[in-house]
Amino acid sequence: MERFFSGSGINKNKAMVEHLQRYGVINSKKIGYNATISAPHMHATCLELLQENLQPGMHALDVGSGTGYLTACFALMVGPQGCAVGVEHIPELVASSIKNIEKSAAAPLLKEGSLKLHAGDGRLGWPECAPYDAIHVGAAAPEIPQPLIDQLKPGGRMVIPVGNIFQDLKVVDKNLDGSISIRSETSVRYVPLTSREAQLRDY
Ligand SMILES: C[S@@+](CC[C@H](N)C(=O)[O-])C[C@H]1O[C@@H](n2cnc3c(N)ncnc32)[C@H](O)[C@@H]1O
Repeated sequence: MERFFSGSGINKNKAMVEHLQRYGVINSKKIGYNATISAPHMHATCLELLQENLQPGMHALDVGSGTGYLTACFALMVGPQGCAVGVEHIPELVASSIKNIEKSAAAPLLKEGSLKLHAGDGRLGWPECAPYDAIHVGAAAPEIPQPLIDQLKPGGRMVIPVGNIFQDLKVVDKNLDGSISIRSETSVRYVPLTSREAQLRDY
C-alpha cells in the first residue's frame, strides 16, 4: 500500500481520499461528511485510560461517536446494568453506526436500551444519562466544554483531545470534592469538535 500514501500533499483526509480514488482503490461515492474513524491505537489508548471508569453498571458518554465502534466497546464493558451513550452530530453517521452495532456483539445491548446513539451537538453532552463515570471525546476541542465537566460524576474521568493544530490528549479527573485535575497524556491529531455546519462547509 505504500505507493498509495507516498504522494506529496497527502496531508488531509480529502486529499487522501482523492488520491485513493485516482489509484482506483476506492470507487464508492459513499465516503464523506468530513468525518474519520479514529486510529485503532487511539481507541486502545482511551479504553486503557478509562478502564476503571467502565466497570459493570457505570455510565459512559462517547462524544463524536462516528462509526459507533468505541460506544459499542463502552457498552460491552459497562454491561446491561450500565449505560453507554454515543452522541454524533451527523445524523447519517448515527444511522450507519446503528447498522454497524446491530451486526456486532453489542447488538443485544442496543436492543435492550443500555446502549443508545443520538444525533446532537456533543459539546452539550447528553444530560439524560448524566452524571457519567467516563466521558470520551473523539474530536479536538479548542477548550474543554463546560457541560461535559458538569456532567462528569465526582470520581469520574474524561479523555479529550484539546487544541487546534497542536493538540494534547487531556485526562480530566473530577475529584470526590468536585475539584478538577487535568494532565496531558500525549500529543495527538484529531478532527475538530465543531458545529455540523462548519464540518460540512467544504464537503
Ligand atoms: C475522529 S472522528 C471519531 C469517531 C469515532 N471515535 C470513530 O472512530 O468512529 C470524530 C467524530 O466527531 C464528530 N463530531 C465533530 N464535532 C462534533 C460535535 N460538536 N458533536 C458531535 N459529534 C461531533 C464527527 O462528525 C466525527 O464523526
